[in-house]
Amino acid sequence: MNETVLVVDFGAQYAQLIARRVREAHVYSQIVPSSITADDVREKAPAAIILSGGPKSVYAVPAPSLDPAIYDLGVPILGICYGAQLMAQQLGGEVANTGVGEYGRTMLSRKGPSLLMSEWPAQTTAWMSHGDAIASAPRGFVVTASSPEAPVAVMEDVERRLYATQFHPEVAHTERGQELLSSFLHHIAGIPPAWTNTSIIEDQVAAIRQQVGSEKVLCALSGGVDSAVAAALVTKAVGTQLTCVFVDTGLMRKNEGEQIEETFARQFGVDLVHVKAQDRFFDALAGVTDPEAKRKIIGELFIREFETVARDLAEGDEGPKFLVQGTLYPDVIESGSGHAANIKSHHNVGGLPEDLSFELVEPLRLLFKDEVRRIGEELGLPAEIVWRQPFPGPGLGVRIVGEVTRERAEILRNADYVVVDEIKKAGLYRELWQSFAVLPAVRTVGVMGDGRTYAYPIIIRAVTSDDAMTADWARLPYDVIESIANRLIREVEGVNRVALDVTSKPPGTIEWE
Ligand code: XMP
Repeated sequence: MNETVLVVDFGAQYAQLIARRVREAHVYSQIVPSSITADDVREKAPAAIILSGGPKSVYAVPAPSLDPAIYDLGVPILGICYGAQLMAQQLGGEVANTGVGEYGRTMLSRKGPSLLMSEWPAQTTAWMSHGDAIASAPRGFVVTASSPEAPVAVMEDVERRLYATQFHPEVAHTERGQELLSSFLHHIAGIPPAWTNTSIIEDQVAAIRQQVGSEKVLCALSGGVDSAVAAALVTKAVGTQLTCVFVDTGLMRKNEGEQIEETFARQFGVDLVHVKAQDRFFDALAGVTDPEAKRKIIGELFIREFETVARDLAEGDEGPKFLVQGTLYPDVIESGSGHAANIKSHHNVGGLPEDLSFELVEPLRLLFKDEVRRIGEELGLPAEIVWRQPFPGPGLGVRIVGEVTRERAEILRNADYVVVDEIKKAGLYRELWQSFAVLPAVRTVGVMGDGRTYAYPIIIRAVTSDDAMTADWARLPYDVIESIANRLIREVEGVNRVALDVTSKPPGTIEWE
């Protein structure tokens, strides 16, 4: 196993970003709550520790703290922002509320030799976000950089291997932030850059083989990135024992089913059960307009379809014992505030049928989304699957306002294809969190040629976001909006008008239902 860096989470979203940056430096990182004790740390035997920033002041009551015995373990520690101030305060330095904070880009001035910033010029810009500042460093530390409002912007105690930066090296606005993290990890802590795509894949393949032995494994493919990469890993590990199930609900994106067939059945040679359940879904949804009722019908029917396949496979006691799940690291982190980030669970369609007892195989449990994408590419999955934007479990069903019919699903599927195609051509697909079409339950009047039309409008929905909890509507360039609109009306039968959704989340949600 790779050497581990523990990222101690003092709240907010900082710890996840730090953990991702550490991994970009090819070092395995794990997020731990600030309640971790010196004994816990000793047991985990990390190669280094990073203390994250946080939203609180060290003077707040209660302010999250750190077991001070951790500083004496001899493990290299880097404190960042709140973590830096806490280190200063706990080791006998002084943290003052200066009344003048620094927020945003700040000029950083070097002072003398530094292990953290060995090759840096005299001045660089760094991203700051602090109200309090370290006024004097604890004994044993050398101050190696300052900024206008932070006399101790960086401090280093080479002997005790303790380092601290008031600024945020993990954010992209800090010019040499990644370089600083690399210096700390590779040179100061001496950790080799061994966390690579190849090592991740090798480790996971070995772990899957170990877990499932010669038993059979079942995996539900949704068309999304996570289930696809999880399935690809399991294929590499125990391909002949794996059966994949893809339930086509009739509410998938254009070509999704074909793509899954092409990739998994033809390219990987996996045993794929492609359930063409469209008719059953449209029948069950006939006449239903209430959003929650629609979700419920889709979710329950999905489980029933999946169950039928699982039961068929289980005949004669030789059925699959394991079920693959694409759970990611952010879903399992125990955060500083003590509760795991839990965006997905209430959303997941196709939760486990309760009376089918499988043991779970979760090969992505240690990984962030960007790592999942990278190893997906390495495993040979097509870019179209690996870079796909998130798609809700109930599929197009939550983007068709009102009754879901075969015809309306077809209109939306074609419209969605046009929106995505133009967004891709404009080179915007990867930077948007989601971009898609919505079909409302009204029709509007138009003219085309000499005739009057009475058809559906399509709403363009495009958002930027980091985690789907909040989102901003994307400022698409006018010419991109124009080409989407032109093509929608020209190419998609049943559409005669185009509108743009300019609602952020909150108050809106990303999906329309
Ligand atoms: P909302 O619409 O709540 O969506 O802002 C937040 C994110 O979750 C996705 N979403 C779902 N994902 N099952 C899922 O697996 C669902 O039922 C579901 N509903 C919304 C949505 O696409 C967005 O990324």
